[in-house]
Amino acid sequence: MKNLIDKLYKNNYLDFDEIVYILNHIENQGKDYLIEKAHETRMKTYGNKVYMRGLIEFSNYCTKGCKYCGINSFNKNVERYRLSLEEIQECSELGYSLGYRTFVLQGGEDNYYSDDMIVEIIKEIKNKYKDVAVTLSLGEKPYESYEKYYNAGADRYLLRHETASKELFEKIHINTDYNNRIESLWNLKKIGYQVGAGFMVGIPTQTKEDLAKDLLFLKELDPEMVGIGPFIPHKDTIYKNQQGGTLEDTITMIALTRLFLPHGLLPATTALGTIDPLGREKGIKAGANVVMPNLSPTTVREKYSLYNGKICTGDEAAECRNCIEKRIVSSGFSIDMSRGDNIKWRQNN
Ligand code: 5AD
Ligand code: FES
Repeated sequence: MKNLIDKLYKNNYLDFDEIVYILNHIENQGKDYLIEKAHETRMKTYGNKVYMRGLIEFSNYCTKGCKYCGINSFNKNVERYRLSLEEIQECSELGYSLGYRTFVLQGGEDNYYSDDMIVEIIKEIKNKYKDVAVTLSLGEKPYESYEKYYNAGADRYLLRHETASKELFEKIHINTDYNNRIESLWNLKKIGYQVGAGFMVGIPTQTKEDLAKDLLFLKELDPEMVGIGPFIPHKDTIYKNQQGGTLEDTITMIALTRLFLPHGLLPATTALGTIDPLGREKGIKAGANVVMPNLSPTTVREKYSLYNGKICTGDEAAECRNCIEKRIVSSGFSIDMSRGDNIKWRQNN
């Protein structure tokens, strides 16, 4: 085990069988060593900094039927909302005054916002603030739309691949095509975005082999960011009675991803903070170096319910800002409020 971890630490690569071996044996041996090596790697690339992103969840309307997701189009129990362009700008103003220099605009796949509207939102933020990065998380769009947003000034795009197993992907989605998802990620890369892929850990029926595929896919795509969180059942989905992903497994996948992609920006996700009160801190200690506190108005927070028990839904943006800083500092890390680009991407651009 130790040999394999050393090999991964040195080469930032292991083959399929080696990954599966690690995943099958890590629980009993080598876990602390894996985390130690992941931590060493992040210290070499980004030091003890944790980057802050302000998240604006601007719409919970969605045309997609992802079976695990609480806001999927079939769920009639969701109170749907959309923020107006003015409300979105107000969130960015609040965020800027709290020190954020990256805004993540996230929503369901909602056709109400035309490409022109999205372009207008991006341009307004980028014109108002010269030192801000705009990250989009709007799902799958045609190449031309991605290109328009990029030309309007969008810097980054988050689109999790969810799972790199085509079979599992097809099992958990209804009207979403695996190949299109993967192609979208490559399109985003080609256009020039800093790209965020990512996956859930503990999806019903997901195997160690599936998780090994996630790491190999990430190595191939070489995204600038990777969002990793535990699957958490949502009460209105067919998975409501299933087990969720565990803290342990998620931490292992974060640490392995850090070793595969030493320069990656890896968030300690809200989902991780939801399954364990210290989940985000544990993620940071295992190689995560980003947090994404919420900037959405508290009036809509609860409605953006992807899974049960989501934390921070009642907390004002300023409270989350302070809460998360305390958590990071008390774990021995320091917050960085700058736009925090991927360092390898910056060297090449
Ligand atoms: N549990 C955990 N994560 C979820 N997501 C959606 N539904 C769930 C769930 N039930 C994640 C997906 C998506 C991201 C925005 O949230 O990975 O890409
Ligand atoms: Fe939101 Fe702690 S980060 S309350």
